[in-house]
Amino acid sequence: MIDIHKVSFQYLSSSTKIFENLSLQIEKGEFVGIIGPTGCGKSTLCYMLNGLIPYSIKGYFSGDVSVSGKKLVNETVEEMSSVVGYMLQEPSFQIATPNVTSEIAFGMENLGIAREEIVKRLDSVLETLGIDYLKNRATADLSEGEKQRVILASILAMDPQILVLDECSSMLDLPSKLELATTLKQLNKEEQKTVVMIEHDLDYLLELADRIILINNGQIIADGPTAKILTDIDLLRDNDLVPPTIVSLFHEIKKESNFDVEIPTSYSQATEILGKMLK
Ligand SMILES: Nc1ncnc2c1ncn2[C@@H]1O[C@H](COP(=O)(O)OP(=O)(O)O)[C@@H](O)[C@H]1O
Ligand SMILES: [Mg+2]
Repeated sequence: MIDIHKVSFQYLSSSTKIFENLSLQIEKGEFVGIIGPTGCGKSTLCYMLNGLIPYSIKGYFSGDVSVSGKKLVNETVEEMSSVVGYMLQEPSFQIATPNVTSEIAFGMENLGIAREEIVKRLDSVLETLGIDYLKNRATADLSEGEKQRVILASILAMDPQILVLDECSSMLDLPSKLELATTLKQLNKEEQKTVVMIEHDLDYLLELADRIILINNGQIIADGPTAKILTDIDLLRDNDLVPPTIVSLFHEIKKESNFDVEIPTSYSQATEILGKMLK
C-alpha cells in the first residue's frame, strides 16, 4: 500500500541528510501513529507520501516511494492527492476558497470530476461528517475545529484511500479533538481507510493507533503494536517524548507499591487493574 524503499533525502539548503536508506511499509487499513522529537523528519516523511517531495520541495532525493501501486516519480501532486489525503497542522493554511461549498468542491474540480458527481459527493461528505449546518458558511467565519472538519470533508470528497494527518489535533479544543478521533476511527474501521497520523499527544495515539513508528535521527528507532511501544516508558523518554498519562501513572504505582501491576493501555483496563489491586 505505502512502500518507502531505501529513501534518502536532504533539503537543498541543509548540509545533512534527514533520511538515509529509510525503508517502511504500511498496509491497507492500518492506523499508524508516527512519533519522534521535533525536527526528526516526521513532516518531511509526509511530504514524500504526497509528492511534495520531490516535486515542490527541492533537495537531494533517492530511493523509491510507491503508494497504492503508484510510483511517486511517475505521478503529479494532483494525481497523488486522489490517493493520499493530506491534512496540515494549521487548518488556516490549507483553506483555499471563501466558502464551505467551494472549498469542498475545489479538490474535486482539480481532479476533473463531473459537476453532478461533485454535488452528490459534497452532500454525502457533509452528511458523513455531520456538518450540513456549515454548508452555507464563509470559511473565514469558521472556528479551527470547523475549518478542520471542512478540510477533512474536502479530502474525503476526493475519496483517497489514505489519510495523512500531520499534527492536526494540536490546534483543536478538546471537544473538536474527540470528534475528530471518532470520525477517524469510523473511517478506518468502516471504510478501511489507511490512516497515518503524526502526533505528539501520545494519549491521543494510545486511543487511536494500531501501530506506532518511532523516528529519530533519520532512522526508525522502533516499530510495533501501540500497546508495546507506548508502554515502553524508557524508550519514549530516551527519545524526548512524553509517555501517555495512564502509562506514567501506572509506572509510578508500580515503582511505589509492592504490586506487580501490568501497564494498562486504556482507561477501562486501568479501572480493572485498580479494582483487582484494591480487593
Ligand atoms: N523546507 C526546508 N528546508 C530546509 N530544511 C528543512 C525544511 N523543512 C524542514 N527542514 C528541516 O528538516 C528537519 C526535519 O523537519 P520536519 O520534517 O519538519 O520535522 P518534524 O515534523 O519531525 O518536526 C528539521 O531540522 C528542519 O529544520
Ligand atoms: Mg512536523
